Amino acid sequence: MKTLLTNIASLVTVRANGAPYITGEAMRDIDEILQGAILFGDTIEWVGTAEEAKHLDLADADLIDCSGKTVMPGFVDSHTHMVFAGSRAHEFARRVAGATYAEIAAEGGGILTTMKAVRQATEDELAANAQRLLQSALRHGTTTVEIKSGYGLDTETELKMLKIGTRCQVLGTHAQSPVPSTLSPVPSTSSPVPSTLSPVPSTSYLVPHVVRTFLGAHAVPPEWKRDPEGYVNIVINEMLPRVAEEGLAEFCDVFTDAGFFTVEQSTRILNKAKELGLKLKVHADEIALIGASQMAAELGCISADHLEHSTIEEVRILRDAGVVCTLLPGTAYTLRLPYPDARMMISEGAIVALATDCNPGSSYSESMPTIMSIACMNMRMSIEEAITASTINGAAALGISHLCGSLEVGKRADVVLYDTPSYKDIVYHYGVNQVRAGWVGGIRY
Ligand code: NIG
Ligand code: FE
Repeated sequence: MKTLLTNIASLVTVRANGAPYITGEAMRDIDEILQGAILFGDTIEWVGTAEEAKHLDLADADLIDCSGKTVMPGFVDSHTHMVFAGSRAHEFARRVAGATYAEIAAEGGGILTTMKAVRQATEDELAANAQRLLQSALRHGTTTVEIKSGYGLDTETELKMLKIGTRCQVLGTHAQSPVPSTLSPVPSTSSPVPSTLSPVPSTSYLVPHVVRTFLGAHAVPPEWKRDPEGYVNIVINEMLPRVAEEGLAEFCDVFTDAGFFTVEQSTRILNKAKELGLKLKVHADEIALIGASQMAAELGCISADHLEHSTIEEVRILRDAGVVCTLLPGTAYTLRLPYPDARMMISEGAIVALATDCNPGSSYSESMPTIMSIACMNMRMSIEEAITASTINGAAALGISHLCGSLEVGKRADVVLYDTPSYKDIVYHYGVNQVRAGWVGGIRY
């Protein structure tokens, strides 16, 4: 079954012409086609104007009139911690009143609060929570999500988290195949479906495509507090071999920062991961400059994420090594930290991506439009730069921009339809969800 969306008021393709990412001034060129049209099955078959679409052979296509609407590539959220249990609303309330993230962490809260909840949670509880967040991300326009482990911090619980990621990945890849019975259907949306759209099947299990990252080195758990080296050895000698053997992750990430893992420890972990065939990421320069960006460049990490404290020196090193700079404005917003210097990064020609960092502590949002609004208002990115950073450059941060991140012939049909006449409204009209419908690999939601 093919779908033709036509008479689209604002069709944004983020055309990259085969390039894996877009940098500098070109980030502002998102290739908007007014009165556009797009034809797709499970991949994109044709993109052009509504006028040109009249000449297509559309024998078996489902035709959808998109007058007054916007169509864009699905967002690629390349940094999340969406598998977790429990709530940190009480800690959040304390932070709203003035307590700092570091104070709460020092009392044994923060990441360790979530670690305790995750260790206690059953697989089904974790899966239900992750599925709820993934489906919510999908309803907010995200069609690809990276999810990390990192709240288990012992071998069995880290593997348990990655197995949840794998269950979700199976759902995202084979949306129509039988699914585990513990996963519930997507609740039907309250907004009415327009008559030009066929009804959504009432039991849809659709979630975004999922990419999995092993983050055993997210924090040192309490039982290893007196012997952090011992914990690093467990990550290297016990966790990583099992992650690789059981095929549980595509990436390995480390929180390389003051009070977490040193550059020396992180290098050992990431080198082992590389040896085992995993691709690399790093949480860098969030709390202090300890050389994490330099390490990311030397080891060939695909992305370095956070970068709140990075200076022009770190950014030039990352740029020259082709490491994607993934910025997470939700974290600076939630923790009242300084924002990363996106303007400097873009003018230096670094590869800039945006992601939610969705997690229960430092950025509890799965909404990319919200993140884009924060990036535009507080980091002075333009709307077009924020779109490029949330689509093709997010895909680059996962090494999959040949598959997704733009609406171009041959790519996955990850397409989102917004109930608004201009892409600008996605940032301008903030705090509300304007997604009307979407397709993941051509499957409607
Ligand atoms: O990406 N920076 C490290 N880790 C997470 C926070 C996780 C948490 O607080 O639960 C982050 O911001
Ligand atoms: Fe993170």
